[in-house]
Amino acid sequence: MRKIPITYALEGMHLGRTIIDSEGHVMLRAGVCLDEYYINRLYEIGVNYVYIFDPDFEDIEEDDVISEETRITTVKLVKKSFSKLQQNRKLNTVALRKVVNNILDEILDNNNVLMTITDISTLDNVIFYHLVSVCTLSIMTGITLGYNESRLKELGIGSLLHDIGKSKINQEIVKREGNLSEEEYAELCRHPEIGFQIIKQYNDMSLLSAHVAYQHHERWDGKGYPRKLQGNDIHEYARIVMVANTYDNLMTDRPNRPPYQVNQAIKLLKHMSGIYFDPRIVTAVVANIATYPVGSFIKLNTGEIGIVSQNNPENPQRPVIRIVVDVHLRRVKKPYEVDLSQMTTVIPVEVISERELSQLLPRTTGN
Ligand SMILES: [Fe+2]
Repeated sequence: MRKIPITYALEGMHLGRTIIDSEGHVMLRAGVCLDEYYINRLYEIGVNYVYIFDPDFEDIEEDDVISEETRITTVKLVKKSFSKLQQNRKLNTVALRKVVNNILDEILDNNNVLMTITDISTLDNVIFYHLVSVCTLSIMTGITLGYNESRLKELGIGSLLHDIGKSKINQEIVKREGNLSEEEYAELCRHPEIGFQIIKQYNDMSLLSAHVAYQHHERWDGKGYPRKLQGNDIHEYARIVMVANTYDNLMTDRPNRPPYQVNQAIKLLKHMSGIYFDPRIVTAVVANIATYPVGSFIKLNTGEIGIVSQNNPENPQRPVIRIVVDVHLRRVKKPYEVDLSQMTTVIPVEVISERELSQLLPRTTGN
């Protein structure tokens, strides 16, 4: 299964992952054969990427940290939580704690799996998918830091609800990318404090979870907002969410730029380390991310090109590669695998884009 930009989807390709609409209903189920109508419809609802079954690499399967069912249930619940607050109704904290427990249980069951990109959201629910990804990566980081169960749950709730204050801000301002006036920006910057006030009303959610919402836009160097907290004065949960949040934002398509590749996003996080972020937390977050996701194509320093067939959780930067194009840019007749964790002189030099790939391995149909 591979993730490809929708612009490279062809009739005859089979969908690898289910796509749900903005109401949380299944729009297209995994396995469906794409035709012109389906592809146009995906464009219309703002889906930028799809997972497809690639007949040439059928056996290559990306493990997911959390199940599709849990992801969809959580996306729906968070979306509902936002609309309840907009109608001045109470949050269902029992349901929220339950989904965080499910995410935690699944992460603990899949302790050998790295974080991958699973953003197949539509334009309408991108913010809710984002919150689920930030929650997942934050909990994984908490585990790396040796947190006990109760701390992981506090961190889980705080990370899932860190942007809940946005529910009370003018939605036109929330959804507009950039181009905000000074007043509009000031309005948007109120969301951490509003989020804190919302979460702290509930006795069955920790005050520390509320502080995640309050502090997730502070910066390690003290130049963040709303209180310009600095260094260790920022609670460690919020320091984790700051990094996980930035990482997932970089991985998301924006009107003014395409998403970063994982290796570029990691490089940028390291660059921001010590200025925006606590360096110790950046290291702990990055240890949980597959630098080269399964199914992506990379060029090695030997000149060969291959598809990532498996990740090495102990060494996220050095996966197993199945070589498909040789140094003379010819397709290899019998692809073979190299485990980069065992070959220290062979290193990935670049990720091959879908455009370059379509020239190297031309395809006219999905079959
Ligand atoms: Fe925020």
